[in-house]
Amino acid sequence: MFMCRIFAAALAEGKVSPILKIGLKRLEYGGYDSAGMATINGDHLEIKKGVGKIDEVDKAVNFESLEGNVGIAHNRWATHGYPSVTNAHPIVDCTGNIAVVHNGVIENFLELKEDLIEKGHVFKSRTDTEVVAHLVEEELKEEKDFVNACLKAIKKVEGSYALAIIYSKEPDKIVLVKKESPLYLGIGKDGNFASSDPVAFVDKTNLMIPLEDYELAVITPYYYKIYSINTGNIITRKPTEINITPQMIEKGGFPHYMLKEIFEQPTSLYYAMNIQKPYLEAIAELMYRSKINFLVGAGTSYHSCLAASYMYSKLAGLATIPVVASEFIHQYGNTLDPDTSLLLVSQSGETADVLKVASFARMKASTVMAITNVVSSTITRLSRLYLVQQAGPEIGVAATKTYTSQLLIHLLLALEIGKKREKISEEEFKDYFAKIRSIPKIAESILKNTEQKVKEVAEILKDSSHIFYLGRGINTATAFEGRLKMLEIAYIPSSAFSAGESKHGPIALIEKNTPVIFVAPNDSSRRVILGNIMEIKSRGGKIITLGNSDDKELKEVSDIYIEMPESEDILTPILYVLPLQLLAYYTAVLRGLDPDKPRNLAKSVTVE
Ligand code: AGP
Ligand code: GLU
Repeated sequence: MFMCRIFAAALAEGKVSPILKIGLKRLEYGGYDSAGMATINGDHLEIKKGVGKIDEVDKAVNFESLEGNVGIAHNRWATHGYPSVTNAHPIVDCTGNIAVVHNGVIENFLELKEDLIEKGHVFKSRTDTEVVAHLVEEELKEEKDFVNACLKAIKKVEGSYALAIIYSKEPDKIVLVKKESPLYLGIGKDGNFASSDPVAFVDKTNLMIPLEDYELAVITPYYYKIYSINTGNIITRKPTEINITPQMIEKGGFPHYMLKEIFEQPTSLYYAMNIQKPYLEAIAELMYRSKINFLVGAGTSYHSCLAASYMYSKLAGLATIPVVASEFIHQYGNTLDPDTSLLLVSQSGETADVLKVASFARMKASTVMAITNVVSSTITRLSRLYLVQQAGPEIGVAATKTYTSQLLIHLLLALEIGKKREKISEEEFKDYFAKIRSIPKIAESILKNTEQKVKEVAEILKDSSHIFYLGRGINTATAFEGRLKMLEIAYIPSSAFSAGESKHGPIALIEKNTPVIFVAPNDSSRRVILGNIMEIKSRGGKIITLGNSDDKELKEVSDIYIEMPESEDILTPILYVLPLQLLAYYTAVLRGLDPDKPRNLAKSVTVE
């Protein structure tokens, strides 16, 4: 459960609190039930924390009033202990000299806690994290060196963690420890940094070092050191360059990240089109050779797998099995063997359900491959081969640009495999490719041409009590994805079905004016979907259709019609989802919600 994010900075000069605050804001997408900060001012710690979003907490406590050039900060997404000021991090020991921020879960905390209580420690919070502060305190009774005390303490801890620890008696140092939760060092000229995500320090330095599991690092304003927790030996690792710029993570003039990311799709699709060919070919080759191919993901990434299964079938005659990550082991675990391949799809590369499948499949000697948007994410380390989507950081919790780029990558893989299996000729391959090349431009025009209409539809939908999304064939996935966007950011109960299923139950819910959104491109499913529209229409449903701009018949039977350009059916999932993303966005905004930070959700769900 590692939804929160940590950030630590040791500056050669100047106050650290304003920098920590900016970093916290950037990390806010990771989870936000509470936030806090601790700095070392001279010989003592100063701490401010509270419940709510960063801005709210800041308003109440004024983070920048914290003095000192060394500090740690935290966005919490509670796992142990409800969100409260006491449970917010930083968490301190009995003496108030040690402060800890933690991302993850300490699995043996109850045992450790009992033991520490017996030794006389007094616990204030209900977090699992607090054991770390007391363990370090306990070690410091014997061991005078802070780093050594941390090395000893951490060996007793089981579970997952990215930890940053400070100690007022050694005021220059921040100790960082990593197992399973992500943690990166930022190596700067005027100070050093550490964070769960390099976006926190990207404006301070472009050099970073990813920490590996079972590593402990120390940063001061002047140097950094990395140790192996198991051996205590020093590890040398050179910094690498970060390939994101501060401009890339700012909102670029848009009111929300989500809208910015929706409009970035022409660019992100262009980048997806140009992903590294050798890896693409290698993955295609392994899928081609496998007896069984699974496509595994969660949420939106699963939807890309669902749409992809139609692509592999259509273009390559290859059967693939799309599976929801959290179900995979129960459903198919027992079938895995060395002839099986899994293509795991995860924007963040950190989704626990997906990582669990990766580790499981490795144990069974199956081939694990991945599509992810985050270079150096955990999934890249667990996969034999992976493709990076190159969509740029996606900050909005709702996945948008990463979905369409996943679809495009699947499409490229399907074409490669189609060629290998001789299901498409060289000629057809070239023809498809030419069409794919036009996608960024078409996407751009769709975003531009449908935005106004979508705003009007959002106005109509904003007070609905239920919305239906129906699609057929490959666009069943589009209906699912449109519905997920609406649910997660506009909080309107919505259902999605393959349109053929509607008569098997869902139609019972249709009343006068129930909004039903049909994804109805001019493909092989168009004729049957027209029938489905009539079924719903005759029961009073309000028909909102996304269809071809010159489809007169569909237009006539629809109450509202969103005109889409003619396109190859295999490309429609990429294009038809665009207005649905906009629709969810504008509906959320009209309902007065912040689409970037939906309640109860985190950008990457690192909890099973
Ligand atoms: C998408 O809008 C959601 N926020 C969520 O379903 C997401 O797609 C899912 O958690 C999977 O994330 P991943 O791609 O980072 O693994
Ligand atoms: N387990 C810690 C807590 O509940 C950290 C949670 C997190 O990773 O957000 O406070």
